[in-house]
Formats: sequence, C-alpha cells, structure tokens
Amino acid sequence: MREIVSIQVGQCGNQIGYKFWETIATEHGLNTSNGEFEGNSDLQIQRANVYFNQIENGQVERYVPRAVLVDLEPGVLDSIASSSQMGKFFNPDSYVSGQNGAGNNWAKGYYSEGSEIIDMVLDQVRKEAENCDVLQGFQFTHSLGGGTGSGLGTNILNILEQEYSSKILFNYSVYPASASDRQTQSGVSSVSDVVVEPYNTVLSLNALINTSHMTTVIENNSLYRICQNLLKLKTSSFADVNYIISQTMSSATATMRFPGASNNTDIRKICMNLIPFPRLHFISQSLAPLYARGNSKYEVINESEIIGRLFDSQSFMSDIELRHGKILTGSVLMRGSEVSECEVDCQIKRLSDKHSSTFVEWIPNRLMSSVCKVNPAYQTSQMSGSSLLNTTSIQNSMSRILHNFEKMYARKAYVHWYENEGMDINEFDEAAANLRDLISEYEQYQEMKSGGDEDDEAEIIYEKKSHSHGFNTTRASSKAS
Ligand code: GTP
Ligand code: MG
Repeated sequence: MREIVSIQVGQCGNQIGYKFWETIATEHGLNTSNGEFEGNSDLQIQRANVYFNQIENGQVERYVPRAVLVDLEPGVLDSIASSSQMGKFFNPDSYVSGQNGAGNNWAKGYYSEGSEIIDMVLDQVRKEAENCDVLQGFQFTHSLGGGTGSGLGTNILNILEQEYSSKILFNYSVYPASASDRQTQSGVSSVSDVVVEPYNTVLSLNALINTSHMTTVIENNSLYRICQNLLKLKTSSFADVNYIISQTMSSATATMRFPGASNNTDIRKICMNLIPFPRLHFISQSLAPLYARGNSKYEVINESEIIGRLFDSQSFMSDIELRHGKILTGSVLMRGSEVSECEVDCQIKRLSDKHSSTFVEWIPNRLMSSVCKVNPAYQTSQMSGSSLLNTTSIQNSMSRILHNFEKMYARKAYVHWYENEGMDINEFDEAAANLRDLISEYEQYQEMKSGGDEDDEAEIIYEKKSHSHGFNTTRASSKAS
C-alpha cells in the first residue's frame, strides 16, 4: 500500500481537515467514535490504508487517521479533541499545539512562535512517515491569509522538501477573500477582515511555488459565490464552504482510496499528468453536481450533464474564467456505480473538440479521465464528478493578491510587525519577485503556439534552481510573427 501522511495547520487547515476526515471515514465505512469498520462492502476498506493506520487491538481492528493536527493556539484542536463524534478518532499524539497563536502574522508562524513547536511537529510527522510501508507523500491543508497555516505551514513545507525530497507534497490552500469581494457579497458571514492577508498570502505562495508539487487553490470568495448563486443560500458560513471543500477533496482522492480505477491511482501519477512544468502546479478544481450541506434531494443526472457543468467557470472553487485563459492539462474524475467509462471518454472528447481554442494545442492528450465506482459519502445524485484543471486563468487570482500586496508594501505599511519577529525585509521583495515571475510564466505559456512552428520561435530555458525540487522555467525569448 502506498500511504499518505496528512498535515493540517492553523484554524482553517484543521477545520477543513476535520470535514475531510469525517467525509472519507463515512465513505470507508468507519465509525468515527471507535475507528471500527462497519461498512457493507469490502471495496470500502481494501485501500483505506492509503489514509488510515490499521491497528490491531486484541480481537478488534481499528482505523486511525494518519494525520498530524497542528495549531499555534489550542482552541480549534481542543474542540476537535473534545468533539463527541470525532474526538477519539484521532491518535492523541497527533495533536501538536502552542499557546499564543500567531496573531495573523506570517513571521510569528515561521519564526518566533512557530519555532517553539516546529520540532514537536516534525517528530510527529517523522513518526507517521516511518510507520508507512511506502510513503507516497504529504497532504497539506491550510489557509494562506493567517499566521499559522501560512507561516508555520511554510516552515514545515520547506523542511519536508529537504528531508523527503523524493516524496510528493500536495496542498489544499485557502486564499483569502479580497476586500472588494467582501463589500459586494451580500449575506456573507464569517469572512475574515485581516488587513495583512496579502502579505501572508504572497509570502506563503513564494514557498508553495518552490516546494509544493501540486497546490489546489481554494478561494473563499468563489465558494461564497457558489453558495449564493448556485446553492441559493441566503447566508453562508465556514460550515457551508467547508462542506463543499470536503466534497471536492474526497472526489479528488477517490481513485487513490478505492480499488478499480485505471488512472490516477496514486498522487505521483496525478501530478505527473497534470503538471507539465514544475512551477506551474496551481490547480483549479470544480465539482458537479453541487449541493448545500444537509440537502437530501436526489438527482438523476448523466455523464454529459456532469461534464458540461464541470467545465463551467461557475463550478470552480477558484476565481477563474476559462475563456480568458488556456487549459494546459486536466483530469476528470467521475464517481458512481453506474458511470460508464466509455461514455465519459466520449463526452470529454466532444467537449475538448468543441472548446478546442480553450486548450493549448501543444499538449495533445491534455484531458485525462478516471472512474471510481464507489459512491460518495453523501450521495445526492446518481453520479458525480470533479475536474482538476491546470489553467493559465489562475494567474488572475495571483495578480489580484500581488496588487494588494504592492499597494501596502510601497509604503512599507505593517512591515515592522514582521521585522519585530526576526524577519528580514528582503523576504518580502523575494516573495513578490517570485510571484511576479510566475504570473509572467503563465502569460507566456498562454500565448505560446505549437512548438516547432516556423511562426513561433518561443523558447524555454530550464534552469536548475538550488532551493527547489524541480526546475525553474524562465523564458529566454519569444517572438511571434
Ligand atoms: P493565526 O490564527 O493567524 O495564527 O493563523 P491561522 O492559520 O489559524 O489563521 P486562519 O486559518 O484563521 O486564517 C485566516 C484565513 O483563513 C482567512 O482568510 C479566513 O477567511 C480563512 N479561514 C479561517 N477558517 C476557515 C474555515 O474554516 N474555512 C475556510 N474556507 N476558510 C477559513
Ligand atoms: Mg488561528
């Protein structure tokens, strides 16, 4: 079995991590109060070891999440540990918490406060990694806007990248909602108002660009938009958006967790297909059909309808407009006992032909598909699906964050709070420069025509980057006639 260690950091990381474990425990037939298997099919449990440790306790066998739960303040972890539903599900050793929090300051998470607990975090991560037969990699859930998931999260990522350089690091990273979105979203509650979110986000993106193999971008404003426009909720909270996030995470990992899928059966294969260039690993994910939590309506829906919705910009958890960019690669994951693989392939081909101008022409087999016959936990439709797209449209979210960063940084506003924690101001410049480069790389690939064409002499030079696991791509020249 090829195992994954899951690390959840900070309030947001732990709250979405909690929903993820609750969802997949249900799918694997596990009772979350004692970890015992109570499912009705062997298919549910055969590959549970990808995410769970299997522990023999006398006659009883229990499954324990292979998770490390980290926060710099105790509140969220205490409420998980004391929850009657899931408190006993996690290994008590897997909770690592500090006392003082990082107060929305990336530098406190990375340096001062974070340094107090980083060794305990790494000890627990190493313990889990050593217990694995063949470790595939690390799954990370965190937000980028606060201090802990972003700053301490970055430190953990940097160390894991050094220590486990052959393993895959994949992230579910929550972007802050921008100030303008807050003003225009009616009925939105629980949206954070932290002024330094652009700083924390750009500093974290710098690390994600260099260390993560695949980052699924989750934008809170897109999720609120889904709640409002598609689910017709009058007000929405973290509970509503975290429910959607947990469904998308469950969908993206289903082919790794259940037997029978022909493609995407481990995280390395998923990355291999989706990431043509190491720095361009920021993935947008959609889900269809979309339902609000607690909605028990059952919909009869077919492959064609689902795949159509999966390629509608409205269905994405990130703020993208597919028409305005180019899709480099993509993967469609379908779930349901009645899904026909043949029909899925046929619908994908139809869609890809119909919208061929939305795809780069220089990667011919850019859309993959895979089918998992085991239904999702909360089955509200006959079948469901999600798509993971590597699209250049993601650069818009990055430009927006960078723009907000630059407005404050031009006046060095709030920078002293970071310097007080031992951070060098050059880190701000480096992070912004790295993000600026990434945005221009997306632009270049978006405009690039087929390689080898006489009318396009675009040329890419690959430079080994000392601090990165992969290659840094910089374009030397591009001349379109
Ligand atoms: P500090 O509290 O600053 O030490 O760091 P932290 O990592 O605990 O911060 P937190 O995760 O609260 O980060 C704030 C950002 O995460 C804001 O953009 C919030 O909107 C977002 N956020 C916080 N909790 C949740 C959650 O449960 N779900 C979602 N989707 N976003 C969240
Ligand atoms: Mg916090």
